[in-house]
Amino acid sequence: MRRTEVFGVITLAACLAAPSPSPAGEPDPTRETPRRVILDVDPGIDDALAMLLAMRSPELQIEAITVVSGNVIVDQGVRNALKLVELAGRGEIPVAMGARYPLKRKLITAETIHGEDGLGNQPLPEPTVAVDPRPAVDLIIEIVTADPGEITLVPVGPLTNIAQAFQKQPGLAGQVAEIILMGGSIAGGNATAAAEANIYNDPEAADIVFRSGAPITMVDLQATAQTRIERKHLPRLRQSASPVAQYVAALGDVYIGFAERLGFFEGSDLHDPLAIGLAIDKTLALEMRPMWIGVETKGELTYGETVANRYLMDEALKDLGDRYTISGFPKIEPNADVPLKIDAERFLELFLSRLESEDPS
Ligand code: BDR
Ligand code: CA
Repeated sequence: MRRTEVFGVITLAACLAAPSPSPAGEPDPTRETPRRVILDVDPGIDDALAMLLAMRSPELQIEAITVVSGNVIVDQGVRNALKLVELAGRGEIPVAMGARYPLKRKLITAETIHGEDGLGNQPLPEPTVAVDPRPAVDLIIEIVTADPGEITLVPVGPLTNIAQAFQKQPGLAGQVAEIILMGGSIAGGNATAAAEANIYNDPEAADIVFRSGAPITMVDLQATAQTRIERKHLPRLRQSASPVAQYVAALGDVYIGFAERLGFFEGSDLHDPLAIGLAIDKTLALEMRPMWIGVETKGELTYGETVANRYLMDEALKDLGDRYTISGFPKIEPNADVPLKIDAERFLELFLSRLESEDPS
């Protein structure tokens, strides 16, 4: 009872002092040069949609695609990434193989969702381009350190590669322009009640990344839930003569079908594509809020949860012997921006129009 009362007071105090949401990011459409990005992926159906969106977007200059085990084992993920760059006519983008296993926990793959091959068993020609000989971690380090402050990392799988790069090269986190990641949740999980899949699949790696000091935008489940692809969107893609559009329609069919089998009939959340959307144009986030995000690496029910401190303060306690009393509310520095409100209509239009367009000759 007492705890409830105290919490009520804290909540009120915190609300009064809560930082107002920052304006919705810098207006990226005015960028004069494309944003230079490394995509870190575990393809995966929505990873594939994200990669194709990125490869069709002139606002992004893709320096490399690095692959991590996640939705499928990394060897399959690399095969898929190579097929996708060829489909998009972007065989010049280096594709590198990354971590085979999470830092500490046992690998979890998701063929049940993404199909045995990770691409919904929707066939594509075998790739003719080869995997880059450099390990993903080395390639990330090489590209970032060559141009400090220039490269945005866009991880949309477990954060193993990024954490390993930060561990291998001290100071690297301070040299990335920013990290726009898909992962985490401030409102319940999809892998467990508490944890989102990318973070749950390597919580220890996520912990390293969130503590790294790099500027992070965390595109979490409440953000991606605002962006659904539905059956009604697929004919538009099917009408296009573009092989990319045809393939996206086929993937969309499988992806929506999975949601329907679970009883969700309003379509499937465009998780990974939304991270690409915000890399293209941060103003797609209508409301962005700085938070401190901690990753739970010990909890029995909460392993892999992204614990969000929205009010950027914690209570400090004074020891009175038989009890503590609250002595104040010291401020906490945010380590991530979380998009709270997405301009979903504009994002979906961006997604569909980029993917239905004719293939560049
Ligand atoms: C995330 O988990 C993966 O299965 C998807 O590709 C996405 O990155 C959503 O929780
Ligand atoms: Ca993914």
